[in-house]
Amino acid sequence: QLNAVIFDLDGVITDTAEYHFIAWKQLAEQLGITFDRAFNEQLKGVSRMESLERILALGGQADRYTTAEKEALAHKKNEHYKQLIARMTPNDLLPGMLDLLRELKRNHIKIGLASASKNAFTVIERLGIREYFDTIVDAAKVQNSKPHPEIFLTAAEQLRVAPSTCVGVEDAQAGVAAIKAANMFAIGVGDKEALKEADYIVKTTADLTYDAIVHAFHRE
Ligand code: G6P
Ligand code: MG
Repeated sequence: QLNAVIFDLDGVITDTAEYHFIAWKQLAEQLGITFDRAFNEQLKGVSRMESLERILALGGQADRYTTAEKEALAHKKNEHYKQLIARMTPNDLLPGMLDLLRELKRNHIKIGLASASKNAFTVIERLGIREYFDTIVDAAKVQNSKPHPEIFLTAAEQLRVAPSTCVGVEDAQAGVAAIKAANMFAIGVGDKEALKEADYIVKTTADLTYDAIVHAFHRE
């Protein structure tokens, strides 16, 4: 029985994954580090500081900066990111997502958010969808980052449902791994190859309908 759907935010509900990419890319270029979309797959779902560490390591600069300097770099990226999200409106919901949230509500399926982003509340507010979520678990509420299952397990606990009755939706490798580690049914949105650990994959959110989710979940 399906009791809840727990969503990742960036790249699933809205295209902020692209904004994270743009902001990191600009910072990396200022440091003389080039990275492409393939490398970016490894940053999706990963916390701000860990993302910076991975970028510095990519550029062979892992030991170049002090902790304070790294914090300043991460802050700079975040200021750029905040500029990018400041203009978001409900029109920035990805295709089909509003219909999906409505359908889930209509069918009494609980809705959770599991986002590693400290900007999650701002984004949800800007999109005007706060009312749909029965719980929101963000970076401030968990100790361990994805692929650790903690963020998804915390959401299930707060929704008072068993993990095995939950579907998790993710666009990140680390996120899909977290869902599987939480013993939930994992739906990946995006590249088949990158998300091959998922139980069910859709190319875009337009294919992520209520019926598709229910069918996939019950086929297992
Ligand atoms: C999400 C995104 C990551 C981002 C992380 C932290 O998991 O997929 O790309 O680095 O959140 O976001 P924040 O807004 O706190 O820097
Ligand atoms: Mg994501």
